[in-house]
Amino acid sequence: MAELNGKRIVIAGGSGFLGLSLAEHFVEAGGQVTILSRSQPKRSGRWETVTWDGRTPGNWMESLNGADAVVNLAGRTVNCIKTPDHQDEILRSRVESTRVLGEAMRVVSSPPPVWVQMSTAHIYGDPPTAVCSEESIEGIGFAPMIGRAWESEFARSQLPGQRGVILRTSFVIGRDRGAGSGALGTLGLITKLGLGGRVGKGTQGLSWIHEYDLNRLFTRAITEHSMSGIYIASAPNPVSQVEFMRTLRKSMGMPIGFPAFEWMVRIGAPLFFRTDPELVLYGRYVVSKRLANEGFTFTFPRLEAALEDLCRKKMLRHAI
Ligand SMILES: NC(=O)c1ccc[n+]([C@@H]2O[C@H](COP(=O)([O-])OP(=O)(O)OC[C@H]3O[C@@H](n4cnc5c(N)ncnc54)[C@H](OP(=O)(O)O)[C@@H]3O)[C@@H](O)[C@H]2O)c1
Repeated sequence: MAELNGKRIVIAGGSGFLGLSLAEHFVEAGGQVTILSRSQPKRSGRWETVTWDGRTPGNWMESLNGADAVVNLAGRTVNCIKTPDHQDEILRSRVESTRVLGEAMRVVSSPPPVWVQMSTAHIYGDPPTAVCSEESIEGIGFAPMIGRAWESEFARSQLPGQRGVILRTSFVIGRDRGAGSGALGTLGLITKLGLGGRVGKGTQGLSWIHEYDLNRLFTRAITEHSMSGIYIASAPNPVSQVEFMRTLRKSMGMPIGFPAFEWMVRIGAPLFFRTDPELVLYGRYVVSKRLANEGFTFTFPRLEAALEDLCRKKMLRHAI
């Protein structure tokens, strides 16, 4: 696989769960990768790390000069209690990093011709049953507001004539490469404790994507010149929360999974997991019409095979 054929790609916010997975994928596909991070690398690899602060112009801008593509993943995790200061950082880390990337691209003499921008499928809010596509209206509340601010800043920051692709990404399931395994690690731990059952009503949608398919989408966004604008990055078969946990239990060989009532989650999530209970009490079903129309084939269209892949490679068990 040498689809990237020496292309130089800058990944802003590439030091985390998704960034390390993507960096590895790009390198294996023949790319040369530079990660922009606020700190020294947590894990070394066949890429270079350049320091930035995610908001101020500096020497790091030179890494964009002559690059073939930039991918922007930077953003403080939303997996936390939504105190005012956390909310502020969730917003600023996304908008300011996007803005300063746009400023940098206006300074360098040879800016990347394509910018692939992370966004969130949570922009559709938490409709209980509707299946959202790229044509659906955006939702209301904190997460949709963040998504809109992020994408609006991207639209303002993109260079005239630069190809831009936004990936509104759902819950990514993947392995731990030294920067955590996202929310799947927590769900795996809960499952191991025998608590991986229905949460609240259990009918809330859980849209997901295997990291391998997400990495393939980022690669396609870089190499396929017809790709432009907003796409939903999510497997074509989203499931309910109760179905997700049933499949996870099966993959992990855990026969029981006690349910949690809404009141338990509202008390337990902030107390034991320092997170926002609404992340599990609500959800959404999203499916990409554009990827289907443009002929993208998912390697992992179904959850069972996706989770089995992670378990088979001992990735999931290792991660939790
Ligand atoms: N994981 C998912 O299921 C999922 C789904 C949809 C969207 N996303 C989005 O994808 C992106 C990456 O997710 P992830 O799971 O890899 O998260 P992660 O492991 O927490 O990594 C987040 C990255 O953002 C950078 N970052 C954090 N706070 C920052 C700040 N204040 N200013 C600049 N950079 C900052 C971090 O870089 P340094 O600390 O090295 O500077 C890190 O590389 C995030 O924007 C997230 O919202 C994730």
